[in-house]
Amino acid sequence: MRDLFDKIYADKGPLGKWADMAEGYFVFPKLEGPISNRMKFQGKEVITWSINDYLGLANRPEVRKVDAEAAAEYGSAYPMGARMMSGHTDLHEQLQNELAAFVKKEATYLLNFGYQGMVSTIDALVSKDDVIVYDVDAHACIIDGVRLHAGKRFTYRHNDMESIDKNLMRATKMAEKTGGGILLISEGVFGMRGEQGRLKEIVALKKKYNFRLFVDDAHGFGTLGKTGAGAGEEQGVQADIDVYFATFAKSMASTGAFIAADQEIIDYLKYNLRSQMFAKSLQMQLVVGALKRLDMLRTMPELKEKLWENVNALQNGLKDRGFDIGTTQSCVTPVYLKGSIPEAMALVKDLRENHGVFCSIVVYPVIPKGLILLRLIPTASHTLEDVAETLEAFSAIREKLESGVYKRLTAAMAAEMGE
Ligand SMILES: Cc1ncc(COP(=O)(O)O)c(C=O)c1O
Repeated sequence: MRDLFDKIYADKGPLGKWADMAEGYFVFPKLEGPISNRMKFQGKEVITWSINDYLGLANRPEVRKVDAEAAAEYGSAYPMGARMMSGHTDLHEQLQNELAAFVKKEATYLLNFGYQGMVSTIDALVSKDDVIVYDVDAHACIIDGVRLHAGKRFTYRHNDMESIDKNLMRATKMAEKTGGGILLISEGVFGMRGEQGRLKEIVALKKKYNFRLFVDDAHGFGTLGKTGAGAGEEQGVQADIDVYFATFAKSMASTGAFIAADQEIIDYLKYNLRSQMFAKSLQMQLVVGALKRLDMLRTMPELKEKLWENVNALQNGLKDRGFDIGTTQSCVTPVYLKGSIPEAMALVKDLRENHGVFCSIVVYPVIPKGLILLRLIPTASHTLEDVAETLEAFSAIREKLESGVYKRLTAAMAAEMGE
């Protein structure tokens, strides 16, 4: 018989296998110093384009002050226990009410972490007779929530209306057989490539099919829509989203998350969300910190305006220089280049070390072989000088990539990797 760990010793997994080459630099890099537009990487200042602090709240003095005061008052223990048992407070309720008003839903419920909250909400919404229809490019928390489902599920091609229609038709036939209902799950903004989910067109399909819509708006909340209520507001269909989700980990620059829906649905979830029933309540310092941040989202529209000034400068600047930024419709700014993995590594090193630009890099198997995706996340704390410097840096690295400089630099490594 084999030992359980044999497979781990033999294969570290699709990403883990690169650990020796990548760890500490391309993965698990250590960004140091206060969270801001410029941080330190390996002792050198870099313009930081890899942090989802969209509204630049993370290090604002008034936010830090409230966080510190709440930590001093409550410590990190309070309240103890799960919400249902001993972890419920007036401030948790206040935050829920204020969030509900902000996203224009009847009620909300807090989640400790977005990831496990999404998994758990999917689990609570469906039973074995129900059918799930979801985007093939969905975030891992959606995929893992669907994994818990004992019934049928169909994936549709990414943001493809024909495929959505076809799969809703299949799901309808299936649900008629099982006697269940249909849950369609989309993201408000797809975080890797930046496209918005086609919520308006999906909602229009409610006339043709009977389904409920669940939207993960991690990247849309605070960044899209007139008031910052997210992708649903941006597309004019917030009222037609049956269950809305957002995390505090991006625009709110904190930890925690929430779901929003009609009161009756939230009342049900409150008693059936295993991630909240069997886990400690969101810490008070996070609740107090979220109230402050939400107040800033509500009362400081200039934060979102500055964010979009930077987004537009960066995205237009890249397009003007002939870069392929795909079909983004959000702040997420992907830059697609053609090259091998070794070339991608050399290019990112050059960007970081010689140009002081730090962004995330995505390569095969996450995207097709031969493509390099550099992902930039503009925030309200960036300046137009940051954008200008970055555009210059991108032009410089593209020239080297196209003239084969990185290929020559990495020829030995490429041969070793069979590239
Ligand atoms: C689309 C999406 N959903 C959910 C999450 C998970 O949220 P959290 O970080 O609060 O666990 C993320 C990442 O943070 C995300 O990008």
